[in-house]
Amino acid sequence: MIIAIDGPAGAGKGTLAARLAEHFELAKLDTGLLYRAVGMKVVRAGGDPEDEILATTMAEGLTTADMEADGLRTEQAGSAASKVSVFPGVRSALLEFQRNFAANPPGDAKGAILDGRDIGTVVCPDANAKFYITAGVEVRAMRRYKELMWRVGEADYERVLEDMKIRDARDQGRDASPLQAAGDACQIDTSGMDADTVFDTALDFVSAKA
Ligand code: DC
Repeated sequence: MIIAIDGPAGAGKGTLAARLAEHFELAKLDTGLLYRAVGMKVVRAGGDPEDEILATTMAEGLTTADMEADGLRTEQAGSAASKVSVFPGVRSALLEFQRNFAANPPGDAKGAILDGRDIGTVVCPDANAKFYITAGVEVRAMRRYKELMWRVGEADYERVLEDMKIRDARDQGRDASPLQAAGDACQIDTSGMDADTVFDTALDFVSAKA
């Protein structure tokens, strides 16, 4: 079984992916982490994430250690990831790893669940179930703000909101695999929903497909 989850930052993809992974005993891949690792590799090398040649070289040489580096969950990493992810060379360098994970999930998992921006449209177009998870930008920014306050102890809501709008525009507006819902995706707006309700809705969709 392969499940694809796409949507913008802060929509609740990760939470849903973790719960579905546990329920169906699937190996989970947060594909945003790959782009974050490329972005931070560029930044740590003193480069600019908008440098296409450098970003592509870093993506082609990405290692497991890069994917486990500190700081990948920071806002700086998210922004760098969004910048490097517009380059076709970066995307194609990461494509094989993602497809291989889906086809050969590690351990004794019964399948794979991948979350990102182009899973249902490009990485796993034949997934058994696809979701497009979204929520209003203010709701997503408030979730991210609360998470930062909890994790780091300080954050600026207006700044988080502004950064999120910039990232949405870049992810949706790029030419290479832009963020969009697959035609056969189950779309869930999580704005007024708690995690249990999102999970139950998703479970109903998967069950109906099986
Ligand atoms: O899901 P995230 O916030 O960790 O993703 C960080 C950035 O990586 C996101 O703004 C765009 C990029 N990304 C992508 O282009 N394609 C994916 N499948 C996953 C992430």
